[in-house]
Amino acid sequence: MTPRKSATEIVETIAHLYAERGAIPYEGGESVSQLAHGLQAAACAERAHAAPGLVAAALLHDIGHLLDPKGEGAAVEGYDARHEDGGADHLARFFGAEVADPVRLHVAAKRYLCAARPGYFERLSPASVRSLALQGGPMSAAEVAAFDALPHGRDALRLRVWDEEAKIVGLEVPSFDHYRPLLESLVSSDGA
Ligand SMILES: [Fe+2]
Repeated sequence: MTPRKSATEIVETIAHLYAERGAIPYEGGESVSQLAHGLQAAACAERAHAAPGLVAAALLHDIGHLLDPKGEGAAVEGYDARHEDGGADHLARFFGAEVADPVRLHVAAKRYLCAARPGYFERLSPASVRSLALQGGPMSAAEVAAFDALPHGRDALRLRVWDEEAKIVGLEVPSFDHYRPLLESLVSSDGA
């Protein structure tokens, strides 16, 4: 039988992943690293007084890119690695839906905002526009209505806006360690 992991050990494993692989570039072409991108998104969430689960989701929303080395730069190579599902599935082993769901929905949220919020598309970075096409383009009216009915849909929309903001080269934000107590408080399962 696998010994149960403590919340501290689970968070340590995640911190280790970011320490090991966090230097890879965000979206295979933008100038910030994955680690800087996650930290900036989490700082935006904290500034907006988001609930702890949503701060954690903002920090870890692109963990799928770190877990899947092949997913790195996928959009540049012209395919969609569905990093949101890989990341959310991984996080759901340890955290509740308040963390995993916004992560799973953060790509759909971009498609939603491009369809439902005037001016949103114009604010996307070139890499984000490129991946949008691979992800299915803006949502249809029926898809927007279905998204509105999802339990953590609104959280995913908030996360998406922070995601787009979190690309500033050299911005000073709190380190990963700042979020360890918050992450540990949210661990709901040992993932075994
Ligand atoms: Fe992101």
